[in-house]
Amino acid sequence: MRDRFLRACRRQPTDCTPVWFMRQAGRYLPEYRRLRERYGLMELCRHPELAAEITLMPVRRFAVDAAIIFADLMTPLEGMGIELEVQEGVGPVIAQPIRSLEDVRRLLVPDDEVLAPATMQAIQIVKGELNGLPLIGFAGAPFTLASYLLEGGPSRDFAQTRAFMFRHPEAWHQLMTKLTETIIRYITAQVRAGVDAVQIFDSWVGCLNPTDYRKFVLPYMRQLFERTAPLGVPRILFGTGTATLLPMMRQVGSEVIGLDWRLPLDEAWQTLDFAVAVQGNLDPAVLLADWQVVKGRAMDILRQAKGKWGHIFNLGHGILPQTDPSIVARLVDFVHEATERPRE
Ligand code: CP3
Repeated sequence: MRDRFLRACRRQPTDCTPVWFMRQAGRYLPEYRRLRERYGLMELCRHPELAAEITLMPVRRFAVDAAIIFADLMTPLEGMGIELEVQEGVGPVIAQPIRSLEDVRRLLVPDDEVLAPATMQAIQIVKGELNGLPLIGFAGAPFTLASYLLEGGPSRDFAQTRAFMFRHPEAWHQLMTKLTETIIRYITAQVRAGVDAVQIFDSWVGCLNPTDYRKFVLPYMRQLFERTAPLGVPRILFGTGTATLLPMMRQVGSEVIGLDWRLPLDEAWQTLDFAVAVQGNLDPAVLLADWQVVKGRAMDILRQAKGKWGHIFNLGHGILPQTDPSIVARLVDFVHEATERPRE
């Protein structure tokens, strides 16, 4: 059943629970590592043929129910005039982090046609190879992208981001407005190029409390989701550390909410009144344990989902580079077999 992922996004009945993995196209795959010896990460993103090839790597190995286009969260920022590199083992590093309203004013909001053309070409190539398997596009959410621009790189507590928000609310508003508009155009271009669903990564928004989320983030998220609704593809909203933010995240209007491993899936789904589909949420570190442990923990999650329509099995965050691909293969098959049911 090629459409089980898209059907689950819409909480429709499926023959078994669909499964894919965040960061499924990446460093734990030896064939990816071999390519990375010759090219930098952002360089790979700029080559449509290579990005397409990497997107297909996990699809060739595993019975996953969706592919996710190979790009980075930073990809659309280059079109905004940001100079950056993604350092191995560190993450994105911004040459000149944003420090003032003037810096925000200098940011460009690129037209759709010039936004990551290589990624759009990669999407078209991949679509021709998937035989109807859905392709997921993605973008960073405005808050998470703003946090990289303000911190200049990865951060533990996002203190500079929060301080900027409180000290310069007008500059924050302008920054979030520009990022939101860019992301809307980037998502729109991806859907036009052929993606069947999109995931919005608000990876670091869990550093905020609900009051500040409502004031500094929610209005932009609502705009992002209102303006991408007419595209007609399911949208997954993912964040980590979001236990206290879930009621607010529900108001964003996504079709699916991605849960990290810190949340019990059943409680989180209940908090969301079962009004959306949920995706998750096996701790990626579990995949480094023996198969019996992996199987037990996967079963726990499936039990919590209680066979309700609208569960997409995934990890609670990206797959770790030390993961053994053969465990991933077994897990995919296990999820499918353990949840098999007659179609209604
Ligand atoms: O999921 C996929 O397989 C598709 C490709 C994908 C990449 N990055 C490629 C990549 C996706 C969906 C991303 C999203 C991304 N990038 C996020 C959101 C997801 C999350 O983890 O919360 C973030 C925060 C980034 C920024 C980023 N890029 C980080 C933190 C890192 C890791 C740095 C490191 O080396 O530890 C990257 C690098 C990166 N992006 C890699 C890949 C395959 C691995 C490193 C490499 O090949 O050099």
